[in-house]
Amino acid sequence: MPWKNDQVSEFETSKILELAKDCLKIDGDYVELGCYRGDTSLLLADMVKSSGKRLWIYDSFEGLPEKTLEDDSVLGRDFQKGVLNVTKREVKERFLRAGLPVPIIKKAWFAELKEVDLPEKIALAFLDGDLYESIRDSLKLVENKMVPGGVIMVHDYNNSALPGVARAVNEWLKGKNPMIQRCQSMITIML
Ligand SMILES: C[S@@+](CC[C@H](N)C(=O)[O-])C[C@H]1O[C@@H](n2cnc3c(N)ncnc32)[C@H](O)[C@@H]1O
Repeated sequence: MPWKNDQVSEFETSKILELAKDCLKIDGDYVELGCYRGDTSLLLADMVKSSGKRLWIYDSFEGLPEKTLEDDSVLGRDFQKGVLNVTKREVKERFLRAGLPVPIIKKAWFAELKEVDLPEKIALAFLDGDLYESIRDSLKLVENKMVPGGVIMVHDYNNSALPGVARAVNEWLKGKNPMIQRCQSMITIML
């Protein structure tokens, strides 16, 4: 990785890339909800560049939204509204500088996104919105678009500073029985 990603560990990144490589074999595009500066997006863009797949990335580009009660944690005091703020233009320029195809970049709060804002078929979804409502809304957006064999990876599932992530995932998993893998703070749901 030619740049330092302080949001996702190297081990998690290698897991994401391993799964992203496997998903090249199946139908559907890749999405990342919560792209921030695009560190992981750049790697995914490189992976899909000659595959015929497209990468779609989403962010408020205004940083985190307000927390809800589900996110309450003494350890998570740094994750306040507006933190992790970067502009869409900065992210776009990083792809251009890296000589990579610019993905479809959408600036929106996840709760405002509609079905048409996402690809018709999703092979791989990386959800990294940090907070309860962000993950709940992301799961809702991708769930009916995932192809058989597709994967949903949710970052910070095992992060006591961000307890809302596990809450949202566990609620979503109720009554479902997919294969699950854990890797550091990340949970992978195989469909
Ligand atoms: C931890 S960062 C993402 C890091 C990135 N995935 C990476 O691998 O480098 C979380 C991002 O999610 C965005 N975000 C969180 N909740 C959101 C929401 N409800 N709507 C839109 N963006 C959101 C924040 O703006 C922030 O940029």
